[in-house]
Amino acid sequence: MQKQQIRKGFSKLNKEQKIDLTASYFENPAKAARELKSFWHNDPDIQKRLDEFAENTISNFSFPYGIAPNFVINGNMYLVPMVIEESSVIAAASNAAKFWSERGGFHAKVVSMTKVGQLHFIWEGDTDKLRSSMPEIREKLITEANHITTNMRKRGGGILDIELIDMSDKIENYYQLKASFDTIDSMGANFINSCLEEFGLQLKRFLKEEKRFTGKEKNCEIVMAILSNYTPECLVRTWVECDIEEFGEMDRDLSAQQFAEKFKMAVRIAQADEYRATTHNKGIMNGIDAVVLATGNDFRAIEGCAHTYAARNGKYTSLTNVIIEDGKFRYELSVPLALGTVGGLTSLHPLAKFSLELLNNPGAEQLMMIAAAAGLANNFSAVKSLTTKGIQVGHMKMHLYNILNHIGVTNKEKEKAVDYFSDKKVSFNNVKEMVTRLRKGNS
Ligand code: MEV
Repeated sequence: MQKQQIRKGFSKLNKEQKIDLTASYFENPAKAARELKSFWHNDPDIQKRLDEFAENTISNFSFPYGIAPNFVINGNMYLVPMVIEESSVIAAASNAAKFWSERGGFHAKVVSMTKVGQLHFIWEGDTDKLRSSMPEIREKLITEANHITTNMRKRGGGILDIELIDMSDKIENYYQLKASFDTIDSMGANFINSCLEEFGLQLKRFLKEEKRFTGKEKNCEIVMAILSNYTPECLVRTWVECDIEEFGEMDRDLSAQQFAEKFKMAVRIAQADEYRATTHNKGIMNGIDAVVLATGNDFRAIEGCAHTYAARNGKYTSLTNVIIEDGKFRYELSVPLALGTVGGLTSLHPLAKFSLELLNNPGAEQLMMIAAAAGLANNFSAVKSLTTKGIQVGHMKMHLYNILNHIGVTNKEKEKAVDYFSDKKVSFNNVKEMVTRLRKGNS
């Protein structure tokens, strides 16, 4: 591999030139270029569309697309599409889905769909005067944004409110207009940002034109206008519940009651300790992100929001909670998920479109409930494994495939290895030794 140098004008090259240039850094440029092209889609129209999602694109990066069947959510059965590169996640979701499908399934409820945007500005003047002008400012901004909001209003959404936030105690002369929006089935980023930029223009105009503002008060500096990915009010709640005795024998050494108590203790630990909470919530996001990706939504936004929400009371904690009462076990997850089922990649990416069709073309609310259920399913399986047989037994079995692929085995060798390790400990060295023995004819 050659040392890389700063290069100007890469974006101006055509795709072939970008590939040639990238491949020229490899020892065998022809092989590197072939490899990049081997991942192209065989339909040139689809490939063009994929290329246009980002910039300087030269290939596609494939992730596994799997199905977790048997998800019963509010009485409806779903095959849930999941895009994830980590072994065990789809298996864990499927196991939990099957387990809970026999115990009433997942229950889910969208608490609210409100999204947030902020106009950040610097203004020097009498705060009370600005605050008392807010009803007029609000009306002007909403009216002047009509040309942007017409269609959204027809669909039942639009601007919900605009409030003034005085942040001048934190940063001198710093204020926000914090606006809330209902974007119905779209994630709504473009809509919100367009509204906010219009608010910026109109706020400046309002201050200039109104006589009650004088001197410096007539000007404000718009620092930025952007949606917030923290949407604590775009909240979904999902839960599972059963009689404790329905757990039967989750583990040879634990009664149903002991299992429920141990499970609760594991969740209490995640509530008390941020090191454990981070991993606990990561297990939830395994399921959520996989659905978010499969449906062409923005997983960075979802991740950012979920973790801020987990720290909303000033301390990072678990997103889930267990209630054990009167012989019943209830496990619930509350998480904000600003998802969309129209716009963005949802209809442009062929597999995102496929996923939504598979889910019966849900609205944003339904998709929030499905993604949340997948998150709770993954987390339930993880905590169940952790509190019973441990995570490594199942995990390493699934990981066996990754190790075998890494070593580079034939299909026959893979079959023999899977059979051999059905009752043995999987580790990289054990697998390597077994394959070596197999090749020498000793296994
Ligand atoms: C691994 O991807 C996720 C887990 O670590 C989650 C957990 O510990 O709860 C198994």
